[in-house]
Formats: sequence, structure tokens, C-alpha cells
Amino acid sequence: MPIARPEEREILIRRAAIEKRVREVAHRITRDFKGQRVHLIGVLKGACIFLSDLVREIDLDTSIDFIAVSSYGRGKESSGQVRVLKDLDSSIADLNVILVEDILDTGLTLNYLLRVLRQRRPKTLRVAALLDKPSRRIKPVKADYVGFTIPNKFVVGYGLDYSERYRNLKDVWVLHLPADAKEP
Ligand code: IMP
Ligand code: MG
Repeated sequence: MPIARPEEREILIRRAAIEKRVREVAHRITRDFKGQRVHLIGVLKGACIFLSDLVREIDLDTSIDFIAVSSYGRGKESSGQVRVLKDLDSSIADLNVILVEDILDTGLTLNYLLRVLRQRRPKTLRVAALLDKPSRRIKPVKADYVGFTIPNKFVVGYGLDYSERYRNLKDVWVLHLPADAKEP
């Protein structure tokens, strides 16, 4: 499928609203962990832009790491299979960990990641998701910090992709795809 023409996408969340909300979430985290260190773990690649904006608004001692998992393949629908593609660089034992995700959809990815990370004995383990699509949930996972709750639409931009495209868009857009679009 070629890159969507302009009429095939529309803005859902504007960059100014994202900026304001990211700042609010960061302030909440700063308040919740006052006087402590927080260790942010970004789920590659979607969360990289959210994490980089979020961490700069957190007024605490911070460190960051990244983990990469496979779940969606190249298409739009989850295969339901989650696998670690790139593990963390360092131990999270006794750290206040915040797992940073771009979007919480079926919950399969987070459910798996939380299980894996809990086994490594962090001091605390929380989740920050820029977007939440609760209507799609298969696993009962909740984020402690949510940027925006959105309807069941496929979105791109601000780190989110469709087949690796559109991550660089500054706003979050709804992408209108044919119902059977799985592979580009
Ligand atoms: P889950 O395992 O179904 O919760 O899916 C989480 C992952 O699926 C996210 O980290 C995204 O990479 C991807 N994803 C889910 N919904 C969307 C969407 O609307 N646009 C782009 N990626 C999505
Ligand atoms: Mg993705």
C-alpha cells in the first residue's frame, strides 16, 4: 500500500495538546516519586518520542533504558505472539521502574512485559502509556499514567507507526485503512 494520501488521514490529537499532557504526566511522576530516582524503560520503537519528551519534564534523578519486543509484525493486527528482540542493558533490581509505552491496545505486549520485568525484582513497577484504547483490551492491564484515552481507531504519529512509517509526524493522526489491510 502506498503512503496514505492526505485525505486518508485526519488529526486526532494536536501537538500542542500532546505537549501539555506530557508535561502534566511528568509532573505527576515527579510528585509521586519525590526525592527518589526513577528508571524509565521505553518500549522500542514506538515509545522513543514520548519517552524523550517525558523524561525531560521529570524533575528527579532519572535513568533510561530500552527494550524491544515483537508483536504486530508489519501489519495492523496483533499476532498475539510477544518475544523480546532487544533486552535491557542493565539490572532493574531495587529500582523504581516506569515502563513507557506508546499505546496500550489489546494489552498483550504489556501483560507479557510486566511479567518479565516483575521477575527481576524492581522496587516498584509502573506503566506510562501515551495512548489507551480500552475497548480493544484482551488482557486486564492498566496503565498508571495515561496521556489520552482514544476510541478504537488506528493511529500514527508521535512515534506510532504503520509499517514503520509516520513515526515522525508531530500530531497523532487517525489512518484510514481498508478493513483487510494487514500488509503494506
Ligand atoms: P498491544 O499488545 O495490543 O497492547 O499493542 C501494543 C503495541 O501495538 C503498541 O506498542 C504499538 O506498537 C502497536 N499498536 C497498537 N495500536 C496501534 C495503533 O493504533 N497504531 C500504531 N500502533 C499500534
Ligand atoms: Mg508498532
